[in-house]
Amino acid sequence: MFELIKKFQSELSVSGGENTLADVIAGVLEPAADGISRDAMGNLTVYKKGRHGGKKVMVAAHMDEIGFVVTAIEDSGMVRVANIGGINPVASSYSPVRFENGVKGVLVVEDGTKLEDISNKKLLVDIGADNASAAKRRVRVGDFCACVPMLLRLSKNRVSSKAFDDRLGCAVAAYAALNCKKPAFDTYFVFTVQEELGCRGSKPAAFSVMPDYAIAIDVTPAPAAGNPNKLTVKLGAGAALKVKDSSVICSPMLVDRLAELAEEKKIKYQYEVLTAGGTDTSSMQIAGTGCHAACISIPTRYVHTPVETADLRDVQACADILTAFIAEGVEE
Ligand code: ZN
Ligand code: CO
Repeated sequence: MFELIKKFQSELSVSGGENTLADVIAGVLEPAADGISRDAMGNLTVYKKGRHGGKKVMVAAHMDEIGFVVTAIEDSGMVRVANIGGINPVASSYSPVRFENGVKGVLVVEDGTKLEDISNKKLLVDIGADNASAAKRRVRVGDFCACVPMLLRLSKNRVSSKAFDDRLGCAVAAYAALNCKKPAFDTYFVFTVQEELGCRGSKPAAFSVMPDYAIAIDVTPAPAAGNPNKLTVKLGAGAALKVKDSSVICSPMLVDRLAELAEEKKIKYQYEVLTAGGTDTSSMQIAGTGCHAACISIPTRYVHTPVETADLRDVQACADILTAFIAEGVEE
């Protein structure tokens, strides 16, 4: 599992620019797949044939991460950027970034900005250029960049990195695809694009699969110290089975089935009730005539910062529940 995380995590995959990561995932899953395809938006689908015909399962994990896009190059050679997705400007500032073409820079705040005035509009990237023409030889308007990947092992089981949202989900889905030899039903592992911009990729993907059962794998915030939002999920307490967030109420039948499998296999789990946020779960639930949708969430601290922190045991618990579900399916 850790090897998958390392491999996926080292790629740059800002919303709209997920192709390189898609190549890596396709390469890893090719030996286990009965079919691999990509659609016009860039969603990657890995198909595995089931033992029983008829029902279809869709698993979704998003490949994209939040990041920045170049909007202008200033006379000074500083690069102006806009956010792609829900950037926290305080958390992201003064960190190293990398562009898709390999150019490195540091994300900084405009000189003279008061602490309380830090916003995405005040962010610039210093790529070490003295003037505009030097900068323009290295990056151009429209180029994407994101924080440089740094995977830190804080302790035996705790790891920290940018883009665990949702590279951990990609690793969990890939693990299940590799470890479930014979799925109960035809299973479509979809690695989606542009989730961070409002689940844009999963909508057409779900429309194309038209699943009977759908499971998203994504991170969910787990509080570290203090808990002003009264979040229910704890780091290290196992896979979080989503009951609801602000975009979805999960299928009670499917949530119960996942909990039942976890009990049977003695996998640690907890329930997640979130008063905000949304994931690909909702797009799958309402695709076509609708389906049974649920989400296995990976408890994660400091979501949408360069130091998202997770517990490897939770990640493995998510992978084990997903693998069990794909192998055994549902009896309705
Ligand atoms: Zn996510
Ligand atoms: Co996110």
